[in-house]
Amino acid sequence: MIRIAAVGDLHAGSDTADVLRDQLGEVSQKADVLLIAGDLTKSGRPQEARVLARELGHVSVPVVAVLGNHDHHADRPEEIASLLRDVGVTVLEGQSIKVDTAGGSVGVAGVKGFGGGFPGASGAEFGEPEMKAFIRHTKERSEALGSALASLQTDVRVALMHYSPIRETLQGEPPEIFPFLGSYLLAEAVDRSGADLVIHGHAHRGTEHGVTPGGVNVRNVAQTVIRQAYAVYGFETATRRREPATSGAPTGRAVAPTRTNTDR
Ligand SMILES: [Fe+2]
Ligand SMILES: [Fe+2]
Repeated sequence: MIRIAAVGDLHAGSDTADVLRDQLGEVSQKADVLLIAGDLTKSGRPQEARVLARELGHVSVPVVAVLGNHDHHADRPEEIASLLRDVGVTVLEGQSIKVDTAGGSVGVAGVKGFGGGFPGASGAEFGEPEMKAFIRHTKERSEALGSALASLQTDVRVALMHYSPIRETLQGEPPEIFPFLGSYLLAEAVDRSGADLVIHGHAHRGTEHGVTPGGVNVRNVAQTVIRQAYAVYGFETATRRREPATSGAPTGRAVAPTRTNTDR
């Protein structure tokens, strides 16, 4: 079995040092890889990233992360990413990585993503330059995600992002802010390129479980949603090794990931 630990919205800062160390203490025994779905820091300041980097330095399984909107707030996202890379964390933005585990290979494609909304209530690349830039950014990040996913030839493919690709995992948030919490363009990219699991955060009051229109399982792992240090999703891969990808063809319906830790 491949065990994928995931959490989002850690929002590290000076007050989280010991809390995060305790929370992440046993992840190396419980999972093969740790995915972090953005909002690593409270307000994107390097000193906050240093707090998280110190904690992640103790994690012995591969750690893969994307940044979130909070990590951009101080306009220093490259410094945040660099501080994490210094302790071995892979920070993705439009790229992918392959992680080999005892149970098989895991490919992770990551982007921050962005907003724009969902069918029937979404923005369009129309009107003022600011509005066009908003939606264009979402389109670009979605296309980057699709390309990164399509490049993977692994037993399990995971799309890691901060913003949500679907409405379903936002349930619990005020509907008025859905366009600022995610975009259907991300789900379209996932369904086009194929994946076995989507991991996202950002919607602190959202819902853990959802599925894309194409049938890919989505999990909102914002820490306030999963209400524990991290969720662990298990994949049995022995019976579903993928043939080399055929030019971006969808992988078909995902096998539902099994949540292997339910302790609160
Ligand atoms: Fe957050
Ligand atoms: Fe966020």
